[in-house]
Order: sequence, then C-alpha cells, then structure tokens
Amino acid sequence: MENHQNTFMTKVHKSLLYTVIGIILLFSMAIIATLIAPQHIDPTWMQPSSYYQVQMYEVADPNFFISSETSGVRDLQYVQRLTNGYTLLSFQENESVRIVAPAELEKYITKFGEKNLKLTSRLLLLRNPEKDIQTSAKQLRETLQQQMRGEGKSLIDYKILELYDTGLEEVFSVARSEGIIEDFVDEDYTILDDSVNQPWHDDPGVIFVKNPMEYRIVPTGFAQTKGWKYDPEGKSVESIAELEGKELGFRSRELLIKLGEQIYAHEGCWYCHTDQTRTLVQDVVLNGSESFPAPPSSPNEYIYQKVTFPGTRRIGPDMSRVGIKRPSRDWHKSHFWAPRTASAGSIMPSFKHFFDFDPRGTRKTEVGIPNYQFEAIYQYLMTKGTRITPPTEAWWIGKDPVQTLKIIEGEL
Ligand code: HEC
Repeated sequence: MENHQNTFMTKVHKSLLYTVIGIILLFSMAIIATLIAPQHIDPTWMQPSSYYQVQMYEVADPNFFISSETSGVRDLQYVQRLTNGYTLLSFQENESVRIVAPAELEKYITKFGEKNLKLTSRLLLLRNPEKDIQTSAKQLRETLQQQMRGEGKSLIDYKILELYDTGLEEVFSVARSEGIIEDFVDEDYTILDDSVNQPWHDDPGVIFVKNPMEYRIVPTGFAQTKGWKYDPEGKSVESIAELEGKELGFRSRELLIKLGEQIYAHEGCWYCHTDQTRTLVQDVVLNGSESFPAPPSSPNEYIYQKVTFPGTRRIGPDMSRVGIKRPSRDWHKSHFWAPRTASAGSIMPSFKHFFDFDPRGTRKTEVGIPNYQFEAIYQYLMTKGTRITPPTEAWWIGKDPVQTLKIIEGEL
C-alpha cells in the first residue's frame, strides 16, 4: 500500500515538475520572441512605405489649438504652438507680402515666384519691421512701387514683414489659412538646417505654415460681450494655460478629438457609417486607390479611442480612412451644413447645429459659422486613417510615431 502511494506521489511530483518547466520554457520563448524579433524586422515595415502612408503621418500634427474669433473676421484662426526644432516652417513671399531680414536670416526667405520652398526647424517668426530694419523695409517698398509704376500697373500696397529670431524655445503663432493641414509639400523643397530634429516628420512631406506671426492679441468687446482678436501690436500670449483658459477659450486638438468621438456616438453617425477597412479588395481600393490601396484596419488604430464604432451597415461610406480621402475642411463644412449640396442625392441629414449664427431665413445658401462641435467632429474624422502605424510600433516596442498617447494624456 505504502509502495503504491509512493509511486503515485512520485508520478504527481514528476508531472508537476514537467508542467512547471514547460510553462517556464514557453514564457521565456515568448519573451525572447518579443525582445529579439522586432530587431530583425524589415525596416520598411516600420517606415511609411508609400506616399499614401507618408500623408497619414503628416496629417497627425497635434500641436495646434483652435478657436473662433469672436469679433470681426468670420473665418477661424488656426493657432500653432511652435517649438524649436519641432515644426518645419516656411516663410514665403507672395503677391502682396514681402519679407526683409538681417543678412544671416535672408536664406530662409522663399522669394516671390521662387519654386523651391525653403523650410527650417529654427524658431523664426514674422513681425512688422522694427527699428534696425525699418529703413531697408522702406527702401524695398519704394523700389517695389517704382517698379509697379514703371510697368504701368496700379499700385499695390505691399505688406512688408520682418523675419526675426525669437530666441525662445517655444511660441504661439497664428495662421489664417483655412487649409493648414492640407498644405503638404512633397517635392521642390529644401530643409536648410543640418540637424532637423523632428519627432515624426520624415522626408518627404512636411507640414508648413504660411507666414506665421507671433501670437498677439487685443481684447475687444461691445456691451456685455467680451472677445479678442489677433493684432500684431497686441499683448503676447504667454502660456498654454492662458490660451486654454476661459477668456481666450481655445480648445486643443486633443480635446476636440475626444469631443468628436462623443459627438460621433450620440449623433448616431455609426448607424449609417462603418469604421473599418476590411481586408477585402473592394475596401482597400475604395478607401485608397488602385495604385495605393489603403491598408486594412488594424487594432492599434483604435487603441486611443474610448468607444469604437466598427458599425454593421454601410448606408454611407466607410469612415476609417476619411482623414486621408477628404482632408478638406471646406468640403466638410458644406457637407455637414447641407449634405446634398456637396453630394447630390445624399440621404445624410444635415447637421446645422454644428454651426453658429444660423443664417437660415437670411440667405439659404450661406454656410453658418462652424462652432466647436464642427471642429470636434472634423478633428475626430481627421484622425481616421492618419494614425496608422505598422503593428510593430505600438505593441512591441512601445513606440508610437504619432505620439498619440502623449497627446491624449496631455503631455504634448
Ligand atoms: C441616415 C444615415 C446617415 C447618418 C446618420 C450620417 N450619415 Fe454621413 N453619409 C451618409 C450617406 C448616405 C453618405 C454618402 C453621401 C454623401 O456624401 O453625403 C454620407 C457621407 C458622409 C461623409 C463623406 C464620406 C466620403 O467618403 O465621401 C462623411 C465624412 C460623413 N458622412 C460623416 C458623417 C458623420 C460625422 C455623421 C454623424 C454626425 C454622419 N455622417 C451621419 C449617411 C449618413
């Protein structure tokens, strides 16, 4: 009896031992695979491999804040938070804007008519010419006006700005351009600094800002309504806290994206739209093109979303690549205002409450002024297709080229 029990116990002990050894072996193999495998992965998998993918990286620039101007001009101001060595800037002259600069900064100016765009990651800004440079600005104005007279053209009053080095680590700048995130450069540009230190902007393709100016404001107001507007002579905004505070009321892109997700949920967009590119040919071609098929959706695209909306029916088109397919803010403006004007025969309801000062009853064709709800849904839609990273990045190495986690957690 005792003997029998003994052999039984040895068997139990033995199988226990084997199980433990087995488990340890399996675990260590898994760890080895996770640690070593990424280093042997084809590097092209980690890099944007097509123009289509490059664009996705570019659109994801998180560092801008949005606010609607409360008085005066109706369009929105895009405010960029610029950090030295972060955003590539170009200073481009146009028909009526000319730029003067001290000799050492001359090389950063893209002269009027010059095809090659000059970009820099130095923190340079434009302002109304100050003391030292005023005489050369005056001279330039006179020469230009003489030229115009000589050519028998009517006089244009040139705006002459000074390019200067802020000497600061970061500043805010404003860009009135509507299409800031549509401004891709994919050829004909030179990056002038040797050490371009961009967290994710890899060549080719960079975002650039046209004529950024230091962010300065003056308060405006009429009776009870208080507002502010951009003014190069105003007081400069000194911190993000001030910018996001009650008075100026900017919302960061991070906040807008979160809000957009909520709006997408409670407006029931998911009832008519899916948010997944399946591996099927019709999906990858429809969301991309024949030559640049869109990558099928991968789980890491959704990891920063609280709620995901894969959807079940496609009454309208799929949303998962809409940030690439339709980057135009103008298009979305008229589409949400009146889907049928943008897309004949559409059954999508209009979302007029995404706009303020609803001008219905005055002029029917006029599009209202987008409010933060529009900005939120727009910014949310723009993340669709722009957060694609090869699966390696986020999971194995804990690296995230678009730094979305940091943005969500408010570190950037
Ligand atoms: C009743 C169904 C329905 C609802 C609800 C709906 N849509 Fe649509 N949507 C459509 C249809 C149909 C189209 C295609 C025709 C068009 O472009 O308007 C469309 C088109 C779109 C497009 C253009 C996509 C492209 O690739 O051309 C976007 C963007 C969009 N919808 C976003 C939204 C958002 C955001 C919401 C929620 C706020 C929403 N839709 C709610 C039916 C709907």
